[in-house]
Amino acid sequence: MYIRIIGKILNRIKKPKQENLLEMLWPKNGKSSGTYKVLNKNYRLRQYNDSDRDKYFKLLELSEMGQCPLEYWKNYILPNGFFVIEHIDTGNIVGACFASHQSRERHKFAGNLGWLAVDPQHRGNKLGEILINAVVNRLQRAGYERIYLETHDFRLPALKIYLNTGWVPFFYTKGMVVRWQEIYKKLNLNFDTTQFPEISAYS
Ligand SMILES: CC(C)(COP(=O)(O)OP(=O)(O)OC[C@H]1O[C@@H](n2cnc3c(N)ncnc32)[C@H](O)[C@@H]1OP(=O)(O)O)[C@@H](O)C(=O)NCCC(=O)NCCS
Repeated sequence: MYIRIIGKILNRIKKPKQENLLEMLWPKNGKSSGTYKVLNKNYRLRQYNDSDRDKYFKLLELSEMGQCPLEYWKNYILPNGFFVIEHIDTGNIVGACFASHQSRERHKFAGNLGWLAVDPQHRGNKLGEILINAVVNRLQRAGYERIYLETHDFRLPALKIYLNTGWVPFFYTKGMVVRWQEIYKKLNLNFDTTQFPEISAYS
């Protein structure tokens, strides 16, 4: 009993609750690089179907993504916007990401990239990048001019590939500037404020 309570307290200390998620925007006129062609022959990029459900949830578990409220998302995922990567030899789903319609106060009539995950055993094969490009292409083909994603400060590999693929930080509060500075530092990247003129609004 006491051990469980202490465990819960330690968990809270380890994972401070963050009030706002980080957000990133896809730049207007930004072109995704369409890296479909580099997909290794052991993998197949295709659309999710209902028979993938168990394998998809297994992938989310392995990737520590928590429970995806799929019934909710199914109302918003674009047709042909739910990409999965199947490992040919095992038939397992080893990567996934989807494009959805998600309007918010800050993002009117917007398209969203969400739930990117790659099986830890298959990382380092550019699967994340391929999924991101597939989702961005889908959102662009749908005509979205506002394209955004939400993420967390601790997701460094994801942040690295979002930056690699052309996404830019969205500084929607003053506190975001400091958080992004810290992330760039952790990723050994130069936080060049001249790249982000909108920051001047906070200085
Ligand atoms: C994000 C994710 C999909 C990337 O998988 P992947 O496509 O196989 O990517 P890689 O493992 O090759 O890593 C991507 C980049 O992060 C870098 N990276 C990996 N681990 C890192 C770490 N601990 N710290 C900093 N950078 C790291 C890699 O060097 C690579 O950058 P590079 O191509 O410039 O060298 C995978 O890590 C994942 O599923 N994470 C858990 C789920 C998650 O966080 N999803 C995002 C939700 S918003």
